[in-house]
Amino acid sequence: MSTSVNHLKLIDFKYVKNIYSIKKPITSFNDSLEVEGDKSLSIRWALLASQATGKSKAINILKSEDVFNTLKCLKMLGVKIKFYKKICEIDGLGINGYRFKKNIILDAGNSGTLARLIMGLLIHTKNKIKILGDKSLSQRDFYRVITPLEKFGARFISKKGKLPIIIKGTKSPKSIEYRENLGSAQCKTAIMFAALNTKGTTTIKAKKSRNHTELLFKYLNIPIKIKKQKNYDLIKVKSVKKINSLNYKIPSDISSCAFFIVLTILAKNSKLRLTNVNINPSRIGIIKILKKMNAKIEFKNIKNYKGEKVADILVKSTKNLKPINCPTNLNSSAIDEFLVIFLIAAKANGVSNFKNLAELNQKESPRLQWGSKILKLLGIKTITNKNSIKIFGNPNLTVNKKIIIKNFSKDHRVFMTSVIAALAFGGSWYIHDKDSIKTSFPTFLKKIKILNK
Ligand code: S3P
Repeated sequence: MSTSVNHLKLIDFKYVKNIYSIKKPITSFNDSLEVEGDKSLSIRWALLASQATGKSKAINILKSEDVFNTLKCLKMLGVKIKFYKKICEIDGLGINGYRFKKNIILDAGNSGTLARLIMGLLIHTKNKIKILGDKSLSQRDFYRVITPLEKFGARFISKKGKLPIIIKGTKSPKSIEYRENLGSAQCKTAIMFAALNTKGTTTIKAKKSRNHTELLFKYLNIPIKIKKQKNYDLIKVKSVKKINSLNYKIPSDISSCAFFIVLTILAKNSKLRLTNVNINPSRIGIIKILKKMNAKIEFKNIKNYKGEKVADILVKSTKNLKPINCPTNLNSSAIDEFLVIFLIAAKANGVSNFKNLAELNQKESPRLQWGSKILKLLGIKTITNKNSIKIFGNPNLTVNKKIIIKNFSKDHRVFMTSVIAALAFGGSWYIHDKDSIKTSFPTFLKKIKILNK
């Protein structure tokens, strides 16, 4: 009896340690932060470096679980990777150069980007490779990559297009023509990666999404042509025999900065400079949306870095937040930021509308539903359906009650959004699954402590 009680206590203790509690709203701050490297660029750099000829080095690669899982998978494929000082070095094996044993299993953990992108590089594999992921990733759709990659000639075995998936490649992948209608950069990139190792030219008509892969291909002199159309890009990629190695200094992730941008706007008399942030135009939907809502945000020191735009972001507290009818053409460039953007709509003076957001429910958790749940707990009325949310803002919003956030499929962005809501609006919060931040932003809470003295 006593052993089982002790055992229970032990479990409870561990559990409590993974709950983050916040009891007071944040007071004013005036600081500068440098946030970790961009996740999309870190994963793309590692995957391309693994297929390059020679050694590539990256400074400021994001040290998070999604990126470490990428490096682990590459090691399983025979790639040599070293870390020294602030540098990650990858010794590329060349196009189609992976060396690995039969029946290997690649574990993508929580990372949809890793699982989908790596499939594009594996379409020519001789041996079967199994790709799996954690519980949340195993519920996400992979038909979006299986369908185009099968056109190249690769075979996939899956149950309903979900992980675990077995991939069996083809000796001679064909180039393809494909229309990508979801606006998924992961899907577009998987196709572009697959196109590197075919005979001929692959053409993708892709609904607009983040364009880091296109910029990296251009910088690496991989033959790529892009015709910009209104909502789509027409992308042509020719196969290559060799990819040059790539040294890269990865700029800060705007998706991680988003939490601090929103916190600063909602806090009283505060100011924050976020340095060296990637402000690629296909990623700054959040800035455009928040500026339309009256937020005080400026870019300083704008520079070009190997095709990417980088700047410092200066943000200040804003009192008179306006509601927004969010233009749907900004959706893809703010896709990872909507949860925190909804907190600004909660404090705006009127009703905001966000439409065509079905893709939000395809993320690590059904994020449109989670956005609506958090707002409801804050006492904000919403009308939410499968692909849209109407938010009835309250400029005097403050919270005095106890709020528990749990069972959110360990979605890192639900956790971080809840922390920002607690610090901005007050109340007594118990936010479960603190470890979820390890996937994209392990130092998030340390950075919060710098502002919340
Ligand atoms: C990513 C693309 C986006 C985004 C994800 C990272 C990428 O997903 O949500 O966090 O690095 O390509 P989609 O491809 O579904 O748009």
